[in-house]
Amino acid sequence: MRRLDQLLANLGYCSRREARDWVRAGRVTVGGRAVSDFGAKADPAEVRVDGAPLDHPDGLLLLLHKPIGLVCSHDEREGPNVYSLLPERWRRRNPLVTSVGRLDKDTSGLLLLTDQSELVHRLTSPKHKVPKIYQATLDREPPAGLAGLFAAGTLQLDGEKAPCAPAVLRMTAPRTAELTLTEGKYHQVRRMFASQGCTVLTLHRSRFGELQLGDLAPGQWHELPLDYFSADGAVPHR
Ligand code: URA
Repeated sequence: MRRLDQLLANLGYCSRREARDWVRAGRVTVGGRAVSDFGAKADPAEVRVDGAPLDHPDGLLLLLHKPIGLVCSHDEREGPNVYSLLPERWRRRNPLVTSVGRLDKDTSGLLLLTDQSELVHRLTSPKHKVPKIYQATLDREPPAGLAGLFAAGTLQLDGEKAPCAPAVLRMTAPRTAELTLTEGKYHQVRRMFASQGCTVLTLHRSRFGELQLGDLAPGQWHELPLDYFSADGAVPHR
């Protein structure tokens, strides 16, 4: 049960002050009946605004094909962001819709967005070891033995306290790599290759756990059920 004015404001409909005006104006019903008390508590499932049910009152979980050129930060000083792809009402929600981990501005691929902070923590925790698969093109052929080095879990990147967790490298062409990571250090893929003298020219994330992009075009997203990632574990096996 949540206060009507707070509920509408938190779901991005309007400001709390406007929500009070909307209730007073009779635009909001609970269980089919108009209410005049904006402080009344209601079950979100029972609330209608202008006759329509509330927009995802329980939360959002989205799978986005992140295009190159957008950042995952909400800070507008960092440039255009992935949230600009979403409906405006979703961008005004509180808690904010945020990304599950980040992809760099110059990286494309599978990115989850959600307003469920508990889910963000769970899916980004190295403890859960959610495998993420990246496709990278390199400026040169990597040195021999790179797969063994990445798999060993001993690679120490500058400025990091712990070495990189074991990662699986598969070369799919002489300068094209598929790398599976279970953690997400800052610019990790680029820095792992750079530590061995290779520059990553293009980077794309093709999988997150069992999830893939399918035929989603860059900039498109689809919803996932909020319980897609069951509470007890990391990755569903479907
Ligand atoms: N590693 C990177 O270097 N960049 C990303 O966006 C993701 C992983």
